[in-house]
Amino acid sequence: MRLTIIGTGYVGLVTGACFAEVGHQVICVDNDSAKVKLLQGGGIPIYEPGLEDMVRKHSASGGLRFTNSTAEGVEKSDVIFIAVPTPSLPDGSVDLSFIEKVAREIAAAMTGYKIVVDKSTVPVKTGDKVAETIKRYCKAQVEFDVVSNPEFLREGFAVGDLMKPDRVVIGVRSQRPVAAMKEIYAPFQAPIIVTDINSAELIKHASNSFLALKISYINAVSVLCEAAGANVQEVAHGMGMDERIGNRFLNASLGFGGSCFPKDLSAFIKIADQVGYDFGLLKEVQKINSAQMDRFVKKIVDTLWVLKDKKIGVLGLAFKQNTDDVRMSPAIDLCQRLVKEGAALRVYDPKAMDKARAILPNATYVEDMNEVAEGCDALVIATEWEEFKKLDLDRARKGLTHPILFDGRNLFDPAEMEKLGFIYKSIGR
Ligand code: UGA
Repeated sequence: MRLTIIGTGYVGLVTGACFAEVGHQVICVDNDSAKVKLLQGGGIPIYEPGLEDMVRKHSASGGLRFTNSTAEGVEKSDVIFIAVPTPSLPDGSVDLSFIEKVAREIAAAMTGYKIVVDKSTVPVKTGDKVAETIKRYCKAQVEFDVVSNPEFLREGFAVGDLMKPDRVVIGVRSQRPVAAMKEIYAPFQAPIIVTDINSAELIKHASNSFLALKISYINAVSVLCEAAGANVQEVAHGMGMDERIGNRFLNASLGFGGSCFPKDLSAFIKIADQVGYDFGLLKEVQKINSAQMDRFVKKIVDTLWVLKDKKIGVLGLAFKQNTDDVRMSPAIDLCQRLVKEGAALRVYDPKAMDKARAILPNATYVEDMNEVAEGCDALVIATEWEEFKKLDLDRARKGLTHPILFDGRNLFDPAEMEKLGFIYKSIGR
């Protein structure tokens, strides 16, 4: 099918590449000319495993093209996906101005029937607003349908998540676009559910909020584990074997971050507020998440006492593994708090150092994870990169002025670390 994706961020670009991979003809539109140029030249603006090869392959075959003209994208495709950012406003609600602008641009370019699909994460009832806007700004007398098709991919695993989705949700206002939507997703061989448009929009916010809740739940349990001398990983394992609970997203940590969970939680609380429901449960999820970081920082301060003039090594800057994304990264938040307390930082991340430099200009960026500990008073693990598990612990211990390691992601075994001579403090163990 001929598809256009507007917005080449994490969702838009991965979606475009995966649609091309299954044989659709895809045009990706972005208003950032520099980005479009980069993509046209075979470059990639983000790090996402597997994406670069896919983009190269389909750009070369002509199945995936890039332009900064929305009009061209609308004219040449039957189905237009909107995948633009929906950032938070200061009061926690969602800034829908990019969506509104794109809806107007699509309307202005329409000359025949189109299906306009919203893939961005939006508050319930946004689809209705998009439909109203298109109707208002479309000069030609043409028919169209608005569909909600939320995305569930995780950064760092985006290609795999999109190629093998757990489910595809299609929210519609009429049955007319259903066949085309099913045809687009048929090659992915995933269960497809068709709902009304408001339910589809709610599925996305309810899912992300539930996953954030799951993390805060295990983080709260981790506090009990520490107090009671239990091990949160064993507790999570025992809980997760119950199929009704499941073992994923039960990793206790220094808290969740990223461009989705924090924003979507605030938005969902605000949406509930607007319909007269106080979603206190989710407010508690937020509270637990920020307390988890406070507690981790306190652990560091309680151990090292005064941080002024101390040197701390930090492994990890990205908000999670397998990505260069540092937006709302707990690792960056932690670094900023340590700097505020007067510590000097030596930092390393496999992919996120370039993006972190602007936010943490005074840290020393080290190119090899095994050199980070050199001359430091303590080492901190802030992101769950798999490769950190291969850290040369012997070298780290010798490099540190005192063998103290704070593990915000529970990557090592406490008993082993003790045996190696570390003062090792992790989460809930
Ligand atoms: C999240 C959802 O998982 C996706 O399904 C959704 O499509 C996406 O948001 C979105 O709305 O676009 P993402 O933010 O990319 O994906 O990353 P996650 O893997 O969900 O991790 C979010 C944060 O939770 C990270 O900081 C991670 O380190 C933390 N986390 C995750 C934990 O602390 N413990 C866990 O057990 C799992």
